[in-house]
Amino acid sequence: MKKKALIFGITGQDGSYLAEFLLKKKYIVHGVKRRSSSINTGRIDHIYQEPYTKKRTFILHYGDITDSLLVTRLVNEIKPDEIYNLAAQSHVQVSFESPEYTANADALGALRILEAIRFTKLENKTKYYQAGTSELFGRNEKTPQNEKANFYPASPYGVAKLYAHWITINYKEAYNIFACNGVLFNHESPRRGETFVTQKIVQGLCKIKKRKQNTLYLGNLYAKRDWGHARDYVEAMWLMLQQKKPIDLVISTGKQITVKNFVNKVARKLNIKIFWRGKGLNEKAIDKKGKVIIACDKTYYRPLEVNNLLGDSRKAKKILNWKPKVNLDDLISEMVNLEMNR
Ligand code: NAP
Ligand code: GDD
Repeated sequence: MKKKALIFGITGQDGSYLAEFLLKKKYIVHGVKRRSSSINTGRIDHIYQEPYTKKRTFILHYGDITDSLLVTRLVNEIKPDEIYNLAAQSHVQVSFESPEYTANADALGALRILEAIRFTKLENKTKYYQAGTSELFGRNEKTPQNEKANFYPASPYGVAKLYAHWITINYKEAYNIFACNGVLFNHESPRRGETFVTQKIVQGLCKIKKRKQNTLYLGNLYAKRDWGHARDYVEAMWLMLQQKKPIDLVISTGKQITVKNFVNKVARKLNIKIFWRGKGLNEKAIDKKGKVIIACDKTYYRPLEVNNLLGDSRKAKKILNWKPKVNLDDLISEMVNLEMNR
């Protein structure tokens, strides 16, 4: 019998890679997408057109993680072997502007799914994966951060994810559900949302290269991130649910660079020569003719910043036999090449 997976957040970056991964492993994949006024299935349309849909191994349902009845009905009807909760308002800066909604989707969303598993008496059948985040470490700047590092979330997003983290542990301990948290550091790809900094830099500099944009405006250039490739990270999610016991694990590359150095790498890849001048909000990158290529804009600064994320995923390497396959330079090449040909 084929295994059934239910993915909340199927239309997102990770949902699309995870669906591809599970379909290759011969799962029947059910995905939950939100109704939106414009089409939001761009990342999964290619899957939909492949034979999977005809064979009924890729099935989409409308739904919202804030809708308990819907969540319970889907879990009851599908009775999945594995649930991946990737659905979230996932933008840290947006969470400052929309904190209540972020809590509803990102914190209570996890509770709704776990309750549905319990309510439908699927505790012994359905395994649960919670999309945790390195944002949990937030203002704890002691690096590298591993499973023992203290949490100190620094945004409504981080705080909502902290609730999701602990409710996952609570349902595992109280009801014996196979439930685990992947504490994933930043991961990117050509499918990354356009307002996250890596994709914003890649798309902005590609447009500048094609002379379709003059200047790219950014916020804090000195935040450090540990950036991996989303395709590698969805494999770790699946591996976590294949273990004998549920265990929470940090997933990261173990390398970090600043936003500014990410800009430098993309500029180099595109053969755009830039020279940095000034400080703080006045810092900018100019080309050899003095044209401003990068400038800072306070719109993109956050009320609180997470300055330093660097993961230590030795435990995941040991337990899952997982390690990232794609390095940052290859990730940037993939993103830039795709963007230049888009
Ligand atoms: P993403 O591209 O923003 O995708 C989020 C998904 O959640 C989208 O499918 C989105 O639907 C859906 N969604 C949002 N609100 C929803 C709601 N109320 N009901 C149902 N679905 C909803 O994020 P991602 O990068 O794939 O990340 C996946 C998960 O991992 C998220 O939970 C994120 O917080 C977490 N995470 C991400 C990273 C990272 O670096 N990428 C690191 C750690 C943790 P629409 O397409 O309709 O918006
Ligand atoms: N988005 C954005 N836009 N960020 C900018 C900009 C800008 O113009 N300029 C500088 N930054 C800085 C942010 O202040 C942050 O320090 C860093 O770039 C990365 O920002 P994002 O790409 O928005 O990602 P994030 O680290 O805040 O959050 C992502 O990773 C988390 C895991 O650590 C998201 O995917 C979260 O959902 C995820 O949990």
